[in-house]
Amino acid sequence: MTKLWGGRFSKNTDALVEEFNSSISFDWRLYKQDILGSIAHATMLSKCNIITEEDRDLIIKGLKEILAEIENNSFEFKVSLEDIHLNIEKVLTDKIGQAGGRLHTARSRNDQVALDTHMYLKEEIKEVSNLILSMQEAIIEVCNKYPKTIMPGYTHLQRAQPILFSHHLLAYFFMLERDFRRFKGAFESADIMPLGAGALAGTTYPIDRHMVADELKFSRVYENSLDAVSDRDYILEFMSAASILMMHLSRISEEIILWCSSEFSFVELDDAHATGSSIMPQKKNPDIPELVRGKTGRVFGHLIALLTVTKGLPLAYNKDLQEDKEGLFDTIDTIKFSLAVYKEILLGMKVNEVRMRAVLRDDFSNATDMADYLVKKGMPFRQAHEVAGKCVAYCIAEKKALLDLSLEEFKSFSELFSEDVLEAMQIETCVDKRNSFGGTGSSQVQKTLQIAAGIISKEKETVSVYKAKTHF
Ligand code: ARG
Repeated sequence: MTKLWGGRFSKNTDALVEEFNSSISFDWRLYKQDILGSIAHATMLSKCNIITEEDRDLIIKGLKEILAEIENNSFEFKVSLEDIHLNIEKVLTDKIGQAGGRLHTARSRNDQVALDTHMYLKEEIKEVSNLILSMQEAIIEVCNKYPKTIMPGYTHLQRAQPILFSHHLLAYFFMLERDFRRFKGAFESADIMPLGAGALAGTTYPIDRHMVADELKFSRVYENSLDAVSDRDYILEFMSAASILMMHLSRISEEIILWCSSEFSFVELDDAHATGSSIMPQKKNPDIPELVRGKTGRVFGHLIALLTVTKGLPLAYNKDLQEDKEGLFDTIDTIKFSLAVYKEILLGMKVNEVRMRAVLRDDFSNATDMADYLVKKGMPFRQAHEVAGKCVAYCIAEKKALLDLSLEEFKSFSELFSEDVLEAMQIETCVDKRNSFGGTGSSQVQKTLQIAAGIISKEKETVSVYKAKTHF
């Protein structure tokens, strides 16, 4: 097939090279953005008297027909036409003749692919942000379902102090809030309009790039034509945000996988969200959290791959940059799927409150509160720590829990102990007294839940801004 760029060539492209060079198998995804971008470009060209209004109308009509054909699956993407841009331009020219050939005036594929990817990513960040919001709402719903449930809090995966289960889950809410903000930063970087770089140096035609930016709902225009076609920072920012998000989802996955084990038995996944074993009839496996944990690897991989592709690339466009898209698309698909599935996992999960509470009876996680009790009676904290440590060692030797000790036994460690020590060391008291800002005390957690609700409304406003700055 004759190429749109075939003028200076005297041989056909080698079949293997054609296949290797082509990106249509994955960049077809950009068709809506490509068509919308071309319509805006043609409109601007005619307003600037670079093409006639008749040509503009023919171009727009042809592009709309192509859009409909792609959407009803009657458009045939051809590897020989390399990528989405040439596939559309060739069919347009076949449809409308010479006017089609005028569309590419003052434009290069280098700026076209940059434009499409910026627009595509803006749409996807809107979707991802909505999914983060839904997962955060699910977290709040689960917190409200189990407002009084107490579980062991851990450091070094050793039981440390009792905490509210809702307090534990809310930690993930705030990780997701930071993820949301990072994606907002990526949106701002994607919200810059590259078209009109004219391959690299700008163009001799009297174009109006700001008009195209307004038409396509961009806030800014690239100030430098070389930067416009070489920049992939906005994709890297998105992939960095995606990697950190996946790291968070991988951490919650690891916890849920542990909690589902017989050793912990803290939670049970809904039957609809777990799978069985083909050989062991008793098994109920947490495949979905495991898969999310596993898929984190490919998202990190795509980030490193694109950093490596762009490192050392001379300005401006190089074909290496075509390698940005498969990793980007896979990152988008993976994080959207993971967020959507996680919301369901959380909402369906049953929490074993009895088991969580039972393990706290004799695990000494109220030892800090024993030390704090002595401090409040006047003992310096270091000394109180020592006394409580001795009590724990005594209990281990005697196979007792701290709350099993008699007042005499307490007093043998310090005269400062009196009857109220038992009340001070009740697990419920230990949790509820931790009322410092951001702590696990139930009145604090209620305040944190209110802060979380405020964050949700702010995030919803941000998503409305995204809606105003995107098309679909
Ligand atoms: N398919 C190419 C890409 O994705 C489009 C730009 C190609 N430009 C060029 N001059 N070969 O990067």
